[in-house]
Amino acid sequence: MSLIESLNWRYAVKNYNNQIVEQEKVEQILESIRLTPTSLGLQTFKVFLIENPELRAEMHLKVCKQPQTVEASHLLVFAAYSELKQEQIDHYMHRIATTRSQALAELEKFKMGIQGFTSKMEVSDLRNWCAKQTYIAMGTAMTVAAHLEVDTTPMEGFDNKAMDELLQLEKQGLFSTVMLALGYRDSEKDFLAKAKKVRKSKEELFIVK
Ligand SMILES: Cc1cc2nc3c(=O)[nH]c(=O)nc-3n(C[C@H](O)[C@H](O)[C@H](O)COP(=O)(O)O)c2cc1C
Repeated sequence: MSLIESLNWRYAVKNYNNQIVEQEKVEQILESIRLTPTSLGLQTFKVFLIENPELRAEMHLKVCKQPQTVEASHLLVFAAYSELKQEQIDHYMHRIATTRSQALAELEKFKMGIQGFTSKMEVSDLRNWCAKQTYIAMGTAMTVAAHLEVDTTPMEGFDNKAMDELLQLEKQGLFSTVMLALGYRDSEKDFLAKAKKVRKSKEELFIVK
């Protein structure tokens, strides 16, 4: 399939069959998240790969009643930074220096720029900014999954507070933003499996100036 055909093939799956996604494909989807571009390259989020069936059952009970929570092969929970610590910026500088064999001193201006930019933000703006990064990553993961013919569901319909409690996110300086279910569609059970894709026309969506 071409990439556009893959994007037409994918849809937000409501019901999954029990098939487990091959580890190699899961690894590729995770790698696409790792490679996703982020503001300033800071990668201000973590992603939890939820495999444990007991945890999944608990999640279904307390956090998200949607069937994908238990039916999907894998669940990814995206969690954004609730604050940006100096040590996180420092780690990033070290990562650049090590990866590109650069002296830390050469990165001083960039570091000051990041500190200046992020320290001006209100806490809520910083949280929103970090949350936005997770959606970009999820988008990349969905596209790569579709290319691999792995089904997905992006999911915001869950109790964020309950999720944060279950995964103890607050004490890790994180908060949940969105989930991505991975698996294979149950074409018989899922009423959307054969439904046509509904999208605005090009004329409605794009404004050419
Ligand atoms: C950020 C986001 C959150 C969503 N949350 C849910 C959800 O909680 N449950 C669900 O079944 N679908 C969810 N969807 C799926 C959308 O309803 C779906 O993507 C949209 O209707 C377009 O249809 P398609 O993806 O099947 O082409 C979400 C989609 C996005 C992008």
